[in-house]
Amino acid sequence: MTVMVLIGAQWGDEGKGKATDLYGERMQWVVRYQGGNNAGHTVVRPDGQKFALHLVPSGILSPQVTNVIGNGVVIDPGVLLGEIAELEDRGVDTSNLMISADAHLIMPYHVAIDKVAERYLGSSKIGTTGRGIGPCYQDKIARMGVRVQDVLDPSILAQKVEAALDVKNQMLVKIYNRKGLDPQAVIDAVLDQAEAFKHRIADTRLKLDQAVDRGENVLLEGGQGTLLDVDHGTYPFVTSSSPTAGGAATGSGIGPTRITTVVGILKAYTTRVGSGPFPTELLDASGEYLRETGHERGVTTGRARRCGWFDAVVARYSTRVNGLTDLFITKLDVLSSLSTVPVCVGYDVDGVRFDEMPMTQTAFHHAKPIYEELPGWSEDITGARTLADLPANARRYLDRLEELAGCRISAVGVGPGQNETIVVNDLLA
Ligand code: IMP
Repeated sequence: MTVMVLIGAQWGDEGKGKATDLYGERMQWVVRYQGGNNAGHTVVRPDGQKFALHLVPSGILSPQVTNVIGNGVVIDPGVLLGEIAELEDRGVDTSNLMISADAHLIMPYHVAIDKVAERYLGSSKIGTTGRGIGPCYQDKIARMGVRVQDVLDPSILAQKVEAALDVKNQMLVKIYNRKGLDPQAVIDAVLDQAEAFKHRIADTRLKLDQAVDRGENVLLEGGQGTLLDVDHGTYPFVTSSSPTAGGAATGSGIGPTRITTVVGILKAYTTRVGSGPFPTELLDASGEYLRETGHERGVTTGRARRCGWFDAVVARYSTRVNGLTDLFITKLDVLSSLSTVPVCVGYDVDGVRFDEMPMTQTAFHHAKPIYEELPGWSEDITGARTLADLPANARRYLDRLEELAGCRISAVGVGPGQNETIVVNDLLA
């Protein structure tokens, strides 16, 4: 039995799909535990058909997998039904998808407020995906959220939506100068959508616990990344949930001691979408090279990603706060053809050296990377299937990353194709 958490160890978009491709086939359960349709992942069927998913777990194409949208996720019902419809239209059986009764629903007023609040912030904006994620989690914590199970009791649903709109409409009209929403129209629309997903509602934490008892393999797939975690990330430039390993337990109901393996996905360089500090960001031709060669554009918003060199301080921090057992390095091939590859090994903050993440955000905003230059390689590495197939300098680069991050590397992505991966340690063996 393996209960594996896959975590973005940087600012998201590390290429987690590569890891789900590698392990997903041998899982019986794939679980989303936080975030919502701010995430984006592409899954590919053996016949080459591609599906861009935001909410549905990536195990949906494998008939042996039961897919769970866990209690920690925020669900936009329209997006969920849209994804299910597209999958079904293209011949995918989605009967293997269940939804936690405790997950929260993103309501139309959450999306409206996310968009206007960002506009209102002007140059101080977070650069959110505009999907209502933050406002939905705000209501969850304020204990005024609408949960999936509320659709099973229309009078409770009505009470909650009316109470929420009492406040939200005032915000929309008086602060943001927008139109308010009609509570009855919102209630009717959710109840109508619920007809199409009610049968999927389940006590998913009980089902997962029973599955672990039976010795089945569970994959918990994190969205976003460690540095976007609301507690451990670069606050306030973060998402509103907990992508880190602790969040996997909270957001699925699987007890922390049942987790056996925590894999951190690290791109061989660094990217970030939206605002916020990014010490190794490259605003020059090297950044453009990484963006073009690595096709660094968001699956969800289409925004160009900010690009920079590998940051070992961030990697080490991720190892620590997630208790990583293994690393999966992705996109190593993007670095082929560089004569030297800089790696950030520490920060200079106003003349003081930091080898670990600074305690304050102010210091992190002032952090200047201290680089070590590693020799590059020019060979095409996409055909490599073992470490021995790699040029010596690529191996040296990986060895140094492993040493700096403080965690063993168990897999390396060397190309975009599903099989273009070097497996160093098979974590399901
Ligand atoms: P939100 O999650 O839409 O509230 O956005 C908060 C921050 O997280 C913004 O900087 C987004 O760009 C970032 N973000 C959210 N989801 C992702 C993701 O899947 N990949 C990378 N960044 C993300």
